[in-house]
Amino acid sequence: MNNSYNVAVIGGDGTGPEVTREALKVAEAAGAKFGFKLNWQHYDLGGERYLKTGEVLPDSVVAELRKFKAIYLGAVGHPDVKPGILEKGILLRLRFELEQYINLRPVKLYRAADCPVKDKGPEQVDFIVVRENNEGLYAGAGGNLFKNTPHEVAIQESINTRRGVDRCLKYAFEVAAKRRGGKQPWKGLKPEDTAAGKTAQLTLCGKTNVLTYAFDLWFRGFQEMAPKYPTVKTDYAHVDAICMWFVKNPEWFDVIVTDNMFGDIITDLAAMIQGGLGVAAGGNINPEGTSMFEPMGGSAPKYTGQNVINPIAAINAAGMMLDFLGETKAAAAIENASVQIINTKIQSLAAGKMGYSTTQVGDLVASAI
Ligand code: IPM
Ligand code: MN
Repeated sequence: MNNSYNVAVIGGDGTGPEVTREALKVAEAAGAKFGFKLNWQHYDLGGERYLKTGEVLPDSVVAELRKFKAIYLGAVGHPDVKPGILEKGILLRLRFELEQYINLRPVKLYRAADCPVKDKGPEQVDFIVVRENNEGLYAGAGGNLFKNTPHEVAIQESINTRRGVDRCLKYAFEVAAKRRGGKQPWKGLKPEDTAAGKTAQLTLCGKTNVLTYAFDLWFRGFQEMAPKYPTVKTDYAHVDAICMWFVKNPEWFDVIVTDNMFGDIITDLAAMIQGGLGVAAGGNINPEGTSMFEPMGGSAPKYTGQNVINPIAAINAAGMMLDFLGETKAAAAIENASVQIINTKIQSLAAGKMGYSTTQVGDLVASAI
């Protein structure tokens, strides 16, 4: 064994534990093949624990989680718990306290049949969204005045700090500069771009025409940083236009960087053009600390316990985690195995329509490693 990794696992609520089981199974298969060991440490955070004990996320657990380089998260959200308690109390709190300031969401379509947009296939849908993950409207700044009166005032502030914006932009420029090995130019570039030495494109997604304080900071930061990355072509688009182009021309995007809320919204739309929440994975990244990997979908109470939910997103999240831990070959093997199983076995990526159970899909991907 070359390496061994300690990973904290939060299966969480609903279908979270079901997809987590398959993701860990596939990660272990990759470990067996590529010579590393994974030591899972399970944490029972989620709706059940909250309902039983009133505990959402004890400080002592945060302190323990901090010691891991990686956390694997299934899903949080329970039908008997008021919305927000678990999402804010577990997911957002961990993102903030562990300073996971990047939410990395690759958007890749594996099979044309899974794309709801006519005439778009894997060639057209292949980009990465870098979402700021610690600030913006999600920072929790704001308050009420005169609550429950006709004069009620509700304020929700978007926090954008120079440090927060710059570190996110830097991460995104680096993702763009390193894409395709930093050599093979992105096919969306124009001949004059490649002649000028560009290999990738980074699009800032904002709303500079209305959010003239926040996105002025983002835009200046973007322009000031660009000269440090001469191989990256810079591009800007308003968030509303991005939504339109994700449907009309997804091939126009290579890497996108954006704030927390816009990133949340556009990545759900992006998940649909890549085949749905059954395949969309993400990483909450602190490059110097503890990162957390999760399928983008929620706890799907409707499908809980039926062994019908698609585990591919969860499996892909495990692949991203191994990539982050430095096991790049294992990560690539997991992605290739997923693609192979999607293309040769799975009927539809939707829950209950795969033609196989959750467990069977996990077994198929594991044996294709
Ligand atoms: C996501 C989710 C979360 C978010 C919720 C559950 C707090 O929608 O990961 O995109 O808004 O970030
Ligand atoms: Mn979301």
